[in-house]
Amino acid sequence: MRAAVLREHASSPSPAEHPDPLPEDGQVLVTVTAAPIVPLDLLCASGTSYFGAPALPYVPGVQGVGRVAGQRVWFPTSAGMRPGDGSMAELALASAEDVVELPDGVPDTLAAVLGTSAIAAWMALTWRGRLREGEQVLVLGAGGVVGQVAVQVARHLGARRVVGAARSAGAQERARACGADAVVPLSDDDEPTSLAARLEEACDGPVEVVVDPLCGIPSTAAATLLGRRGRLVNFGSAAGEVASYSSAHLRSRTAAILGYTNNDITTDQRRDALQAVLRLAVEEGLTVAHEVLPLAEVASAWDRQASGTAGRRLVLAVS
Ligand SMILES: NC(=O)c1ccc[n+]([C@@H]2O[C@H](COP(=O)([O-])OP(=O)(O)OC[C@H]3O[C@@H](n4cnc5c(N)ncnc54)[C@H](OP(=O)(O)O)[C@@H]3O)[C@@H](O)[C@H]2O)c1
Repeated sequence: MRAAVLREHASSPSPAEHPDPLPEDGQVLVTVTAAPIVPLDLLCASGTSYFGAPALPYVPGVQGVGRVAGQRVWFPTSAGMRPGDGSMAELALASAEDVVELPDGVPDTLAAVLGTSAIAAWMALTWRGRLREGEQVLVLGAGGVVGQVAVQVARHLGARRVVGAARSAGAQERARACGADAVVPLSDDDEPTSLAARLEEACDGPVEVVVDPLCGIPSTAAATLLGRRGRLVNFGSAAGEVASYSSAHLRSRTAAILGYTNNDITTDQRRDALQAVLRLAVEEGLTVAHEVLPLAEVASAWDRQASGTAGRRLVLAVS
């Protein structure tokens, strides 16, 4: 089969012939149609992730979309985290219980782009953030894929105001296009007090839910806006590994700082979360900015993702 094959850690995969995978008990063979390039793919391929350096050569791709017995499905893989190949190939293996059926009306490429980012956004707002109608939401990193989904899901769930915060001009524009009521620019030079003041100006009083894929200074600043019983849900650290929170602020408002990872939810939760977002894609036009490229262009696409110049999610059209 044709596949994107990684031969050296921290390099780019190249298109090549690769042996067809053989399903074992409990696995299904997926004819892949679309595979996104996500930050986790690059982290695993770097050989420096906490999963350890993957054996080489291997096919990256922690998720994808394809067909199993004629049925369109989304599937996760553990490529780069455990031995075995991933989704960036004409054929891939998935655990039978992990595949999620796709509704009609959502293109394979969009479903592939939504995948784990949509699951994180949905679960952060609902399961961890317990967002209720009429509450105010602040989405950090609102121009990323998780952020774009979070803005649209918050709107759908009846948030009274959704404020985004994003770094690059492109990310700010994407957040606006998703329906954010206001977008606060972030800068690598931000300092917590002045950023908190800018966020407060964009918000309408205290914030009930903060969606936080950034940590660092944006998270420190956002936490100061949490109102009574406010919840900040962190699931990433793009802006720093550490943030600081005031005990007096948190305890006086019974506010909560919560962690979230897609790795600690059940198969049912993952399926229900993804299907909920896919339904919004079909029924309400939920979407995120993305660019479709052929598998043959995997090396340059990977390099764009690695250098931070992709601007939007890149997804490989496989077959
Ligand atoms: N815990 C989980 O289960 C889970 C699941 C999914 C995602 N995540 C994490 O959530 C994060 C977002 O994922 P994604 O899929 O949305 O990724 P993405 O589409 O690549 O978006 C990342 C966003 O983060 C912004 N960003 C990066 N560094 C920043 C910094 N120093 N300051 C401010 N903004 C910064 C980027 O802004 P610019 O466009 O301006 O560069 C970009 O818009 C990632 O860190 C990912 O690992 C975690």
